Formats: sequence, C-alpha cells, structure tokens
Amino acid sequence: ESSPMEASIQASAPPTILTQDELKKIAAYKAVEFVESGMVLGLGTGSTAKHAVDRIAELLHQGKLTNIVGVPTSKKTQEQAISLGIPLSDLNEHPVLDLAIDGADEVDPYLNLVKGRGGSLLREKMVESACKKFIVIVDQTKLVKSLGGTGDAVPVEVVPFCWKFTETRLQRLFEEKFEVGCVAKLRVCGKNGEPFVTDNMNYIVDLFFEKDIGDLEAASDEILRLAGVVEHGMFLNMATTVIVAGEYGITMKTK
Ligand code: 5RP
Repeated sequence: ESSPMEASIQASAPPTILTQDELKKIAAYKAVEFVESGMVLGLGTGSTAKHAVDRIAELLHQGKLTNIVGVPTSKKTQEQAISLGIPLSDLNEHPVLDLAIDGADEVDPYLNLVKGRGGSLLREKMVESACKKFIVIVDQTKLVKSLGGTGDAVPVEVVPFCWKFTETRLQRLFEEKFEVGCVAKLRVCGKNGEPFVTDNMNYIVDLFFEKDIGDLEAASDEILRLAGVVEHGMFLNMATTVIVAGEYGITMKTK
C-alpha cells in the first residue's frame, strides 16, 4: 500500500494553545472549503462533523453556497441539519454523492479509520461508501500507528438477537484466527447499564485488542462473515483526504 501524500498549511505558524474543540472546528471549516454549490453531501456525525454542518448552513444562509442537498449519517445529524434548514435527501434518491465530510476516532498512516465510537458506524459506512470523495476531519489526537493498537474500542454493530453469542464469537475469532488477545464488550449506557441502541435498533459490541490487529482486510472479512454482525467500524481504503488540525496548523493527507 502506498503512503499518502502530505501537505502542510500554515506549518510554520507559531504554536498556539487551542482547545481540542477549536482544533476540530478548524479542520471542519477547512473541509467545507471543498464544498461547491450544487453538491450532494454526506453529512457526518460527532462533535467534529457538527462544526462542518454548522458551517455549511452558515454559508447557505449567506448565499455563498446554493443548491446543496445533504444526506445525514445519523438521526442526530438529521435533526441538526433540519434545525439549520439544510435540504435533505437519502441514498435511495441519491445513490452517488459528491462529497462526504466526517470525523473519525482513529486514523492510521494509510488513511484507514476507526469510526463508530459515537455509535453511527452503519449509516456512516453506507453514506461514505457512496461518495466520490470522502474528507475526514480530525484533531491531531486521532492519529495512530495502527488501528486498534492503542487499546481503544473498535466498534461492531450486531443484531440484538442472542448478542452474547455474537460477542463470544467475535472475541474467539481474534484469539483463534489472528492470535491477538481481544476483549469483546457489549456497549451499555444509562444508570442501569441498558444496552446502547443504534439508530437502526441494533446493539454495539466494542472490541479491545491487546496489540495491533495486523491484517486489517482479513480481520474485516472475518468479522463480516459472522452471523449476527451487521457492520464494523474499520473504514479501510475509504477516506480520500484527511485534514488534521494540530498546534502547528493544518496538515492535509491525500490518497
Ligand atoms: C460517530 C463517529 C465519529 O465520527 C467519531 O466518533 C468521531 O467523533 P468526534 O468528532 O466527536 O471526536 O464515527 O459514529
């Protein structure tokens, strides 16, 4: 796999102390510069993507962008876009999108991603796989050497039916076929620890690895072959550009 090209903007600017949210906003605003009037846009989910959606709405209201149609990747983003007056559609009406802008939980040097810690991985993957261009927006804390290698969750959306069976099979898969220690845990929420329910009425099993997964394509294929799995949060070879905002400015990595 070839390494992505990298370009730095404002790289010589002196470091400024910015909050993580300010960095997310900088990355989001930079990505929106690539939006053109008339585009059909995938609208991402999460605290970084939220800034991009706000900015698109602002430019629409200022008349600097016209004729935009958004395809949201979650109910939350759908609500945000409706409240801001962004015209919306879906993949049935628009099976090919011009551009999607979304955040990520992890980005590796080849622009592979982990997504879904916010729980929207299935709709995100459907929408973003339908886009001609997919710009990922992150602050520098999201850059990793290898996906899953930091020990943080790699989410898998599963059907609620006998989720424990699927959870066990996911954990065993990595121990037996990949010789990587893995703890699979149902995602819970609320005071009583009820299962977290996705927009598609499914559950999420988070996978925590003791070291690098290794062959990501093989891992992806094997996860998807398990009955009960709907989708996983590894987005391999999907991002076309990653915009990283850090203390020294913006870096753009392009495939
Ligand atoms: C939601 C996602 C988000 O893009 C990801 O979790 C990043 O979120 P944030 O921008 O809040 O850090 O995949 O399912």
